[in-house]
Amino acid sequence: MRVYQFRHPSKIELSHLNLLTAKPEVVYISGLDMQKKKSYPGFFLVFEGGEGCGKSTQLRQLARTLSREGIPIVLTREPGGTPLGKGIRQLLLHAKHKVSPEAELFLYEADRAHHVASVVKPALSCGQVVLSDRHADSTAVYQGMARGMHHAETLNSLATSGLTPDLVIILDVPPEIGLARVRGRGAPDRLEREKMAFHKKVRKGFLALAKKNSRRYRVFNGTGDPKEIGQEIQRLVKTRLERKGLWPQH
Ligand SMILES: Nc1ncnc2c1ncn2[C@@H]1O[C@H](COP(=O)(O)OP(=O)(O)OP(=O)(O)O)[C@@H](O)[C@H]1O
Ligand SMILES: [Mg+2]
Repeated sequence: MRVYQFRHPSKIELSHLNLLTAKPEVVYISGLDMQKKKSYPGFFLVFEGGEGCGKSTQLRQLARTLSREGIPIVLTREPGGTPLGKGIRQLLLHAKHKVSPEAELFLYEADRAHHVASVVKPALSCGQVVLSDRHADSTAVYQGMARGMHHAETLNSLATSGLTPDLVIILDVPPEIGLARVRGRGAPDRLEREKMAFHKKVRKGFLALAKKNSRRYRVFNGTGDPKEIGQEIQRLVKTRLERKGLWPQH
């Protein structure tokens, strides 16, 4: 059996890792080297929030603006940002069968691990701006805080190998409003069908994350006029991209 050193032993216990090993004699932890924070030439921007808060609307609007400026962007999402992830998304959100909370957590992380490795990191490495509709914070909030799955943060670190977004835009909307918006869209998915108490925990969870790190997270009131929200987001993103030399000087 090979022995590896942990840099964050308080966060990771061997029992967690046993769940993750494909072969019992080899403990696979390369993705857990969380202290090595690599910095990329690109910019990783994530839109987060509860159901129907306007993530996709704002992401599309911002993508149009950045493209007009000639900024190279990659538009993506979790789950479902890769061919593998599309299958996982279908299993997670639209399958008829039940999904246990543990299986749900692992499926989200499987999608994320593949997405980060095959889409996000390659794009960031060549200086692109990655716009993702949801990412690890959705798991921290939905599976971690709302479902009470305590391993969510640890598994997020494994799936992302420590990559964190440069900026997370949280659109804050009361769940009653968000759910009413998506109701007209057809049959609700598995998470949209959750009880109101669950959606309230999700809202609280995102706001709690934002409170902990005001540099990485920005909360926007998602009940306002979509165009005005878009303009506020654009101003913030422009400032951040200028700082990184990614906004073109015309
Ligand atoms: N600020 C807003 N005011 C009113 N309606 C909005 C606003 N933003 C988006 N909408 C509408 O609400 C619905 C849901 O928006 P959108 O699909 O962007 O949300 P979402 O957060 O991506 O939802 P989901 O969680 O289902 O992915 C759409 O019909 C959209 O046109
Ligand atoms: Mg959406």
